[in-house]
Amino acid sequence: MEFTIKSGSPEKQRSACVVVGVFDNRKLSLSAELIDRASNGYVSEIIRRGDMEGKLGATLLLHNVRGTLADRVLLVGLGKERDFRDREFRSAIRSAVKLLNETGSYEAVVYLTEEKVKRREVAWRVEHAVIVAMEAVYRFEQMKSQPTEVRRPLRKLTLSVPQRSDLTAGERAAVRGLSIAHGMDLARDLGNMPGNICTPTFLAERAQALSTEFPDIVVKVLERKECEELGMGSFLSVTNGSNQPPRFIVLEYMQHERKQTRPSVLVGKGITFDTGGISLKAGLDMDQMKFDMCGAAAVLGTFRAIAEIKAPINVVGLIPACENMPSGTATKPGDVVTSMSGQTIEVLNTDAEGRLILADALTYAERYEPVAVVDIATLTGAMVIALGHVASGLFSNNETLARALLTAGDDACDRAWQMPMWEDYQDGLASNFADFANIAGRAGSSITAACFLSRFTKKYDWAHLDIAGTAWKDGKDKGATGRPVPLLATWLLEQETPAP
Ligand code: BES
Ligand code: MN
Ligand code: ZN
Repeated sequence: MEFTIKSGSPEKQRSACVVVGVFDNRKLSLSAELIDRASNGYVSEIIRRGDMEGKLGATLLLHNVRGTLADRVLLVGLGKERDFRDREFRSAIRSAVKLLNETGSYEAVVYLTEEKVKRREVAWRVEHAVIVAMEAVYRFEQMKSQPTEVRRPLRKLTLSVPQRSDLTAGERAAVRGLSIAHGMDLARDLGNMPGNICTPTFLAERAQALSTEFPDIVVKVLERKECEELGMGSFLSVTNGSNQPPRFIVLEYMQHERKQTRPSVLVGKGITFDTGGISLKAGLDMDQMKFDMCGAAAVLGTFRAIAEIKAPINVVGLIPACENMPSGTATKPGDVVTSMSGQTIEVLNTDAEGRLILADALTYAERYEPVAVVDIATLTGAMVIALGHVASGLFSNNETLARALLTAGDDACDRAWQMPMWEDYQDGLASNFADFANIAGRAGSSITAACFLSRFTKKYDWAHLDIAGTAWKDGKDKGATGRPVPLLATWLLEQETPAP
């Protein structure tokens, strides 16, 4: 989809559709007011009759409204004016775009971006309108023999800003929003791809394709032999039962004006299918374990976003990718493996494999002397129990870093919630046979998973995002969400050095 920014009166737009808001209690927004005046009170008449009450997300499509130049006017309910915040703004845009995409308009001018949203500037509104619109029209049809036909899909949205002086900021925000949306699309596509296609090799190829498309991204792929030479015994122990060869993908985006500035590092869990290994999972819903590479997908998506924006920052991405399968050669419960850090691990449960692959990637990260390392992983089922599908779990050894990520999540409407990681939680990992075990008890298992990771992150500021509840949706809208690309991109873009 294409986006442009414009400033001007709604009744004067020559367009297939003009989209204006109506608040609860039949209160017209400023742009609806202008349409109303131009049409001699047609809009207020409709509202008086009770056909549009302004409930959040309600829509009413009008044709040939007198006094206006557009073919249609779409009224969108905004809810109570004083409750109109981030969530309500995004939900109104989502309803409008879904409706536009299903009716005959291939193009529209949206005035909802002119509405005031508490604490949010016009740039924020434009960026989020673009992201939400892209999210709303996303489909995954690569695996269907016949793609479903949309009669006249929405091709172009013009977003209106209040003043001509907002145009420049609006245009920049649209570019930023579209880049983040493209990153989310990539993350969603990779997540939705089935495990028989989206293998470790496939992920590596997609990373290489990304570097072809965006030459600022340099990609290096380590194969099994190089991982062995590096001593990645923890990572490789997970791949023992699989016929698919593992890949360790390294992405480098070094576009800070001073290249030697220390980079931020993103580490993504890339289990392309998690059967649990010898500690085999139960059958119900096991198909969803194709999403166990959504951390990796978020790293690739974030790279796509920052490269498209051409952000002047330094970022490294690390993706350990493999399958977790049972077989005669698979790692067994009780096996002891030696990680790249030299620490030995008793693998008490082969289904706690994410932390095993992340451990070696986190050690590999040391060579970059990073300013910060953030790992992103569908790490624990308990995270879904704790926070549901709303917030990602955030764990960190540094409060400043934690705060920055929480704020980025809030601004991006891709929230995280901080979990405790006190020393008291470390005890459960004790082992009689190795330096420590890969699991503690059932209680607080998202936290003990984070504690396990913390043993590999002593040398730098680090945060861990457990996205088990947020990376994909179950049910009728089953599929990858593209989260937490918005959070990560927003956090990284905060680090842009202001122009001199
Ligand atoms: N990939 C899973 C976590 C998961 C499960 C995410 C269900 C989303 C939905 C992870 O590898 C795993 O199996 N974790 C175990 C750890 C346990 C064995 C300590 C879990 O959470 O049950
Ligand atoms: Mn597992
Ligand atoms: Zn897993």
